[in-house]
Amino acid sequence: MPRHPDTNRPIGIFDSGLGGLTVVKELVAALPKENLVYFGDTARVPYGTKSRETIIRYSREIVEVLLKYKVKMIVVACNTASSLALDVLKRECPVPVVGVIDPGVRKAALSTKSKKVGIIATQSTVKSGKYTQRLNDFQPHIHVVSQPCPLFVPLVEEGWFEHDITRRIAQEYLNGLKKMGVDTLILGCTHYPLLKKTIGRVMGKKVALIDSAREVAMEVKDILQKMNMLRIVSGKAYYLYLVSDEPNIFKYRAVSFLGKSVKNVKKHSF
Ligand code: DGL
Repeated sequence: MPRHPDTNRPIGIFDSGLGGLTVVKELVAALPKENLVYFGDTARVPYGTKSRETIIRYSREIVEVLLKYKVKMIVVACNTASSLALDVLKRECPVPVVGVIDPGVRKAALSTKSKKVGIIATQSTVKSGKYTQRLNDFQPHIHVVSQPCPLFVPLVEEGWFEHDITRRIAQEYLNGLKKMGVDTLILGCTHYPLLKKTIGRVMGKKVALIDSAREVAMEVKDILQKMNMLRIVSGKAYYLYLVSDEPNIFKYRAVSFLGKSVKNVKKHSF
């Protein structure tokens, strides 16, 4: 099959704010040649407490912006937007749209032996029931227990990954799941991979922590390969970061999510 002429087009990726950078990190590792345009909706974060209508409206607005940058596909890095808006976006969007739910669910379904899987996420993600629904689509006999952990997002944004307070809050949130005997825990929020150590200490070594970022990157690679849209030219990849609020705060905080500094950050006002 001839290579599509527009392989230089960037991959579009969005999140409610900074958290989606955990997915960017894996995308860059898996696909170092790909150009990326990231949208962080920093003016309207958090999404995790908002209604379905609002999340769909915000997501549509961001997709419209990304399409102006001629993206060849869109990654919905936000778990809340993936839970509440993915179906709508997939129907409406002229390019492929990938969310973060299914890649994590597949990995969890393969990992669990006890058939008891825990999910921690934002309130809106848990309320949507999407993770439970998709897990049961993959494996009908899995017992799923969900737990919203709303305080985790501000703790991560504060950089308190292993703080004593974080450990105590994690115990409070996770003790119930531990008692239920889950052997697999889905980290169903962009911010939670940064708390992996603390969550792991509370849950114990026998519980597998599922972070879908790497699986998402693999799925993106697979889709681009199938479409013959992988960028193969030798020039360096470019990364553009669009934010809906002050770029400097994003720049300052991005380092802990991405593991390196970001340069090209621009403000986009709706
Ligand atoms: N990005 C959100 C998610 O993964 C977490 C932050 C928020 O509530 O907006 O669900």
